[in-house]
Amino acid sequence: MPPTQTDSLRNLPPYVFAELDRLKAEARARGATLVDLGIGSPNLPVAPGIIRAMAAAGEEPTSGAYPPFRATPGYFDAITDFMHARFGATIEPEREALALSGAKEGIAQLIFALCEPGDVVLVPEIYYPVFARAPLLCRAEVRWVPMRAEDDFVLDLDAIPAADRKRAKILIANYPNNPTGARVDVDFHERAVRFAQQNDLLYVSDMAYSELTFSGRPAPSALEADPDREVTVEFHSCSKTFSMAGMRIGFVVGNADAVEALAAYRTNVGYGTPTVMQAAAAYALNHHAELVPATVAEYRARRDAMMNAFHAAGWNAEPPPASMYLWLQVPDGVDDWEWVRTLIDEDGVVVTPGVAFGDGGRGWFRVSLVRDKETLAKAASAIAARREAMLSVR
Ligand SMILES: Cc1ncc(COP(=O)(O)O)c(C=O)c1O
Repeated sequence: MPPTQTDSLRNLPPYVFAELDRLKAEARARGATLVDLGIGSPNLPVAPGIIRAMAAAGEEPTSGAYPPFRATPGYFDAITDFMHARFGATIEPEREALALSGAKEGIAQLIFALCEPGDVVLVPEIYYPVFARAPLLCRAEVRWVPMRAEDDFVLDLDAIPAADRKRAKILIANYPNNPTGARVDVDFHERAVRFAQQNDLLYVSDMAYSELTFSGRPAPSALEADPDREVTVEFHSCSKTFSMAGMRIGFVVGNADAVEALAAYRTNVGYGTPTVMQAAAAYALNHHAELVPATVAEYRARRDAMMNAFHAAGWNAEPPPASMYLWLQVPDGVDDWEWVRTLIDEDGVVVTPGVAFGDGGRGWFRVSLVRDKETLAKAASAIAARREAMLSVR
């Protein structure tokens, strides 16, 4: 008999999105038409300049050759210029940057490169799944860092017990945050950097939503708090900022040893990131100042369309300052899955139960702003009406 999955793979907690897929398939089989605000896959078109850059790169005679392991010169330059223009960070790209086929696999590979069985990774208790699944896959242990609504979802680093600090190799944070839409100022990164220095660990900042902020205050980079890159690496992604999620392109910047470890891991299991995608991403980063404002304006309009509909229905939910999600409370007394299932079955609206982001997400649900604002406003009215109806029978 051929071998079966390893215990670490088989014993991962169930992937909530798979259960959501099942509910969607059942509803569709009954003939329902769904507005799917579950997964955060951008529905905005990729800017024509980005497509042209990709096409031009594809026409190069060697476009089909293996890419350089770390990054093309053009992508290194674009990363360096972007980090400087946006965050005032001066990086040495050959040592401190690396092209990635998305932040997700980069984060997983960094964890595989640094952690062994028994090591500890400090993960926000409301988390993007790979933060916990990658440690579990390499039999490292996960310890949850408190992330509470009453603290505006800013991690409580002081609450991490001494025993966990001692064994931890990595602390992960993600701001602007998926799913809560929280943002932080540079003082949070300063505390995280100090924490990492005091406890000899690596601070991993996931900035997949770096440009999607609505408050007029751009999100700071963790590297601003660690100008010498002593203990910090940061993951960036073109998926949401430039609606390039399907093109699988991002990068990591920061501590040279951590970047080297990730590069070493990647060299052993892959061949780097496709050259045409690096050309497309280089164009995107080089033109971020022209491209990003329209995207932010669109997400802001979508957010506001939903919030206005909630408020019109008498629900005073808080608008998030960042990201492309709304993070909302399941009506009091209603079970999370009952809520999500009812919205799918009765209203044709798909949202993600908060438990998809760990136990810390129980009692909440996430709405992805991945439809036009008219569709979202209608979905919001339906959600608000369903909330009223369910509250009134309890
Ligand atoms: C917090 C966070 N990090 C990383 C990613 C994945 O980024 P990429 O598409 O670059 O792998 C996502 C995607 O939803 C995310 O929400």
